[in-house]
Amino acid sequence: MLSMEQTLLLVKPDGVRRNLVGEVLSRIERKGYVIANLKMVNVSTDLLGEHYAEHRDKPFFASLVRYMSTGSVVAAVIEGERVIEGVRSLSGSTEPTLAVPGTIRGDLGRDWGSGQIENIVHSSDSPESAEREIALWFPAD
Ligand code: RTP
Ligand code: MG
Repeated sequence: MLSMEQTLLLVKPDGVRRNLVGEVLSRIERKGYVIANLKMVNVSTDLLGEHYAEHRDKPFFASLVRYMSTGSVVAAVIEGERVIEGVRSLSGSTEPTLAVPGTIRGDLGRDWGSGQIENIVHSSDSPESAEREIALWFPAD
């Protein structure tokens, strides 16, 4: 059965600052996925609060929103068969110190002792999240 999907990928401010936008998008493209939409944005804290609504009650929420507001973010819609799982797999696990080498976070990320996990990318974790997040970041489309 075909399950062509779209997912939301973000290159977070640390990824943009470290000039990793090309590297991240290149890995997505080399895997065979298609960039269906792409933009660089200065994100409002309102949008970030909506984006990370599931974490609103977590102790790291305020510092997460602060980190995501430290610079521009690159937002992309990525398309392909089982792309939601695929981009999560390319990204690696949340903590960059532990993320498996070969993944974006495992190869390019590390802990910086900032007290906040800086991990270069976000990607949607389910079809429901993908639909919600794409509508949030690309509302005109
Ligand atoms: P993301 O949503 O950004 O793709 O990351 P994820 O699914 O791998 O991880 P999630 O649990 O959804 O957490 C979202 C982001 O919050 C920060 N975080 N900090 N204990 C902590 O300090 C903590 N836990 C999570 C990370 O930046 C994580 O990516
Ligand atoms: Mg998440």
